[in-house]
Amino acid sequence: MFNIVIFGAPGSGKGTQSENLIANYGLFHISTGEVLRDHIARGTELGKVAESYISKGNLIPDDLMVSILADILDNTPEAKDGVIFDGFPRTINQAKALKAMLAERNAQVDAVVGLEVEEQELITRLLKRGEESGRSDDNMETIKQRLNVYHSQTQPLHDFYVEEGCYLGIKGMGTVESIFDDIKAAIKEKCGK
Ligand code: AP5
Ligand code: MG
Repeated sequence: MFNIVIFGAPGSGKGTQSENLIANYGLFHISTGEVLRDHIARGTELGKVAESYISKGNLIPDDLMVSILADILDNTPEAKDGVIFDGFPRTINQAKALKAMLAERNAQVDAVVGLEVEEQELITRLLKRGEESGRSDDNMETIKQRLNVYHSQTQPLHDFYVEEGCYLGIKGMGTVESIFDDIKAAIKEKCGK
C-alpha cells in the first residue's frame, strides 16, 4: 500500500495535482471536500450538517470527519493498494487518527506532498474559480475564513509531518505540468517510486 497525503492551503492545487497523481501512480483518490459536497448535492442528513460548516469556511468536527473516512476505507476495495488523501488530515487529531487507521492495515503515510503557494495567488485562484464555476465557498468572506482556519488548525501539520520524516515541500506556483514534474522527482528521490 502506497499512501500519499496532498497537503496545502485552499486553492494550492490539491485537486488539480491529485488528477496527475492518479494518472501516474494509479492510486485511489479520496477528497473529503468532494465527499461532503456530494452529500450536500444529494441533500442527505450529513450534507445538511456539512453545509452549515462549509458555507462559513469552518472545518466539520474531527469525530465526524474521521468516521466518514474510516467508512470509506472499510468499504472501498479499490483503496487497498494505496490512497491519495486530498484535504485530509486537516488537524493534528485527524493526522493521529489517520496514522492509527493505517497502522491497523499495516500501512502508513508514505509521502506528504506539501504545495506551497503565496497567499495572494491562492485568493486570485479561488475568486476566479468562484466566478467561473460558482463553488459556494469561493467568495471573499468565506475564503478569508478558510485561510484563517488553514493557518490556525492545518498549518501545524507541516511540523508534524516533517518530524514523521515524510514531508516533501513543493513550490506550488508556475504551470500545473512543471509543478507535477517537481512532485514526481521528489517522490522518486524520497520513496523510490
Ligand atoms: P476542500 O474541498 O478540501 O477545499 P480546500 O482545502 O479549501 O481547497 P480547494 O479544493 O478549494 O483547493 P485545492 O487545493 O484542491 O486546489 P484546486 O486544485 O481546486 O474543503 C472544502 C471544505 O470542506 C472545508 O472548508 C471544510 O469545511 C470541509 N472539509 C473538507 N475536508 C475536511 C476535513 N478533513 N476536516 C474538516 N472539514 C473538512 O485549485 C484551485 C483553483 O486553482 C482551480 O480553479 C484550479 O484550476 C486552479 N489552479 C490549480 N493549479 C494551478 C496553477 N498551477 N496555476 C494556476 N491555477 C491553478
Ligand atoms: Mg480541492
